[in-house]
Amino acid sequence: MRTVEWTDQNRVRMIDQRQVPWQLAYVEYDDYRMVAQAIAEMVVRGAPAIGVSAAFAMALAGRQCPALDVGSLLEYLEVAAVILKKARPTAVNLAWAVDHMMNVARDERLDRADDIRAALLAEAQHMADQDVEINKQIAQHGATLIKNGDTILHHCNTGMLATVDYGTALGVIRMAHEQGKRIHVLLDETRPRLQGSRLSAWECEQLNISYDIIPDTAAGYYMRRGEIKLVMFGADRVAANGDVVNKVGSYQIAVLARENRIPCYSVFPTSTVDLAVPTGDHVPIEERDLDEVRAPYGCSIVPDHYRARNPAFDVTPQKYLSGLITECGIILPPFGDNLRKTMRKIRRPI
Ligand code: MRU
Repeated sequence: MRTVEWTDQNRVRMIDQRQVPWQLAYVEYDDYRMVAQAIAEMVVRGAPAIGVSAAFAMALAGRQCPALDVGSLLEYLEVAAVILKKARPTAVNLAWAVDHMMNVARDERLDRADDIRAALLAEAQHMADQDVEINKQIAQHGATLIKNGDTILHHCNTGMLATVDYGTALGVIRMAHEQGKRIHVLLDETRPRLQGSRLSAWECEQLNISYDIIPDTAAGYYMRRGEIKLVMFGADRVAANGDVVNKVGSYQIAVLARENRIPCYSVFPTSTVDLAVPTGDHVPIEERDLDEVRAPYGCSIVPDHYRARNPAFDVTPQKYLSGLITECGIILPPFGDNLRKTMRKIRRPI
């Protein structure tokens, strides 16, 4: 089962994550603009999953464009690229994947429009396969940190649903479980969209991983009681200095972990690193609809006119992190230098 894939009917199929855990429903799109809307509305979410969805959307755009000549096709793709990149601003995987697809399309060796269309689809398929492969490499590295008997605190959803398959931080936990380690996971419910209670708990159910959902506000309580041995979360963008921008609430658990002397790791593929932004404070933070706070999933908590704020992400300064777990290994401080060295070694990042 893949979160997002290309069908024999030349459509993009994805799990409708708004319906999990109540239903495992799929949606299919034959228009790249509908994929952009699905990303914005979080039908598909999670940095790697939206990156691959956007890559497939670029392949769709190529097919939607009636042009016979290369110039007109490239113009059409440029417009699609702008629309897709606007869907969500924080996760760099989205812009990275779209830019990468534009580079594929502009390859001068492709001198016929149909060759570009074929190359776009082949590349999107390759990115999807690579995502799964890379997640397993990440998991192999990360699982070395988990000991038999450990309880791990996890934030948001970073599992198969947030990627094409397997997952990043939850993938590390899954690998430790598959290695036969006896582990337990405390899942932050992750307000307001509840990715922890709805999606991560559903994945733990499927994989038979021992878990409890906890209110976000209970993380400190369990840390202080000595129940949590490790904290792991994902990343939507990692700045050049190692600051991690991730689901809102990550910062407070990283600070609490430091206070309680608990190691805290961020887990991500190197396609999430953005060396063009010097620190996390330079990353645009998405502000989402206020009704996600006032009336989550249609359940009104307060009158519609009550005031609210809804940042979807926050910045965890690198000083609170014990390490960054990537497909290239576990990066330790000093993060700025070591991230740069790691990124230099990568031949073809995805
Ligand atoms: O708003 P979301 O659900 O797309 O946010 C997702 C996260 O913050 C994840 O932790 C991040 O994308 C890493 S997923 C492997």
